[in-house]
Amino acid sequence: MDELAFAGRLADMADEITMRYFNSQLKISTKKDGSIVTQADRETEETIRAAIQKQYPNHAILGEESGLQGDTSSPTWVIDPIDGTNNYAAGIPVFATLIALRIDGITEVGVVSAPALQERYEAATDAGARMNDHPIHVSEVSALAGATVCIGSYHRMVRYGFGEQLAYILANCRRDRGFGDFWGHMLVARGAAEAMVEPNLKIWDIAALEVIVKEAGGRASGFGGDPYPESRMTSGGADGSLMSTNGKLHQEFMDILGG
Ligand code: IPD
Ligand code: CA
Ligand code: CA
Repeated sequence: MDELAFAGRLADMADEITMRYFNSQLKISTKKDGSIVTQADRETEETIRAAIQKQYPNHAILGEESGLQGDTSSPTWVIDPIDGTNNYAAGIPVFATLIALRIDGITEVGVVSAPALQERYEAATDAGARMNDHPIHVSEVSALAGATVCIGSYHRMVRYGFGEQLAYILANCRRDRGFGDFWGHMLVARGAAEAMVEPNLKIWDIAALEVIVKEAGGRASGFGGDPYPESRMTSGGADGSLMSTNGKLHQEFMDILGG
């Protein structure tokens, strides 16, 4: 798909900017919602937006820092210029630019570029998933007792009402790690972990990840098995959860977290 190659070029532009500012004296400000943003987040999104507008003037763009431009009934590029901004600002290399193309509410193309980890993940519907140009696939583990489970934040799971359910999962899995943000989901896609769960995310935190997990043979959904609620895509309000699994464990996780 041409759009996947184009998304790869957008990721190259993003990597140049994010790596230029990484570990430098960054200007950090606080947004209305209390989260932080850096000049690298803004410059990356502006650069990606300009390139999309030039290449696909009829497409819509939804980005974390500058909102929606166009109409989501058109093909819509969904951009998180830096996922893991807190890591980025602290000099922790677990950050990525997330680029997705959604058509009729389905993510068709996803690129996750984590330049400080030297990891690039990509997928397009029915074209498989790759990491650094090599095909990736989820694991075959079929029991919670054999699973590595990732979480972004225990605190956030408790805050959104999933504390008891998470405690059950962590007490019964083989191994638990807090490989948060995009990375936990990509570890599931490449078979290094079996599940990653995170509540209350925005569409730009989710879109690029879900197509990569699915194309790697896994499943990505809300905790109840539902896709991201399209009606919330542009509201900026209440959000969706994301549960990535290797597929074999999805029903068990839905029974625990979605019930
Ligand atoms: C954050 C990450 C994190 C999630 C937060 C998001 P950002 O994104 O996706 O995993 O727990 O809700 O805000 O701000 O680093 O792009
Ligand atoms: Ca994010
Ligand atoms: Ca971000």
